[in-house]
Amino acid sequence: MAVGVFDSGLGGLTVLDALVRRLPQVPFVYFGDNANTPYGTRDAEDIYRLTTQGVQRLFDEGCDLVILACNTASAAALKRMQESWIPPGKRVLGVFVPLIEALTERQWGDNSPPREVAVKHVALFATPATVASRAFQRELAFRAIGVDVEAQPCGGVVDAIEQGDMILAEALVHSHVEALHRRMPKPEAAVLGCTHYPLMEDAFRAALGSGVQVYSQPELVAASLEHYLERHPDLIGAGTETLFLTTGDPVAVGHKATQFLRRRIPFRAA
Ligand code: DGL
Repeated sequence: MAVGVFDSGLGGLTVLDALVRRLPQVPFVYFGDNANTPYGTRDAEDIYRLTTQGVQRLFDEGCDLVILACNTASAAALKRMQESWIPPGKRVLGVFVPLIEALTERQWGDNSPPREVAVKHVALFATPATVASRAFQRELAFRAIGVDVEAQPCGGVVDAIEQGDMILAEALVHSHVEALHRRMPKPEAAVLGCTHYPLMEDAFRAALGSGVQVYSQPELVAASLEHYLERHPDLIGAGTETLFLTTGDPVAVGHKATQFLRRRIPFRAA
């Protein structure tokens, strides 16, 4: 047993990296659905089908707890999975809530009514499917009032990162930030609402300019999981092996992952 970490591809590694740094004693099993990436241009039904398949693979590997380190899956599939699919004794958590709690100045699990918060103009950068789901705005509305969210679907960025074309990814980031600026010239905060985007964080910061607070998920999710495991230590299980699984070509995926995280990441076929 171990804690499972799911993503459509390489992006979840940004979360995994933060998890390993914060919780070095916990074994993690990573599953990247690289054969089917990107999810962000698929419809909700497709995302649900692929996400449940991948999460099932992690359950089969002995994980009782799985983190969906993918905003697109968290936005388009998690609610339906929690309502009707997750078997007893298993848990699946998404990556939105820790981010929104940070943005709305809340402690973990503070479910008090929505209130005014300091930040009023928020730019959300995410995949087309995440933006279309409006899941971010829904979760935000449970916690805050009076926050103006302008969402920018960042078509092509995940694809470029998965192909290893960082020059194209950077050019796309600049053009998406420019498009956002036309509708919201002065955001106070920017949310990188896709786990691939921390790999392009410098490009987002450069395009946004100084004075914009950038919220990136990996550290927030890691802190939140640490609190969660303090309350549910039984969900870690007794396993000791960290594994990296992919539906893609393990050699090619391992090569790109090693480049991104600057340490050897040995993938095997899922
Ligand atoms: N890392 C996924 C996310 O956080 C990317 C989704 C995709 O495959 O398009 O949304």
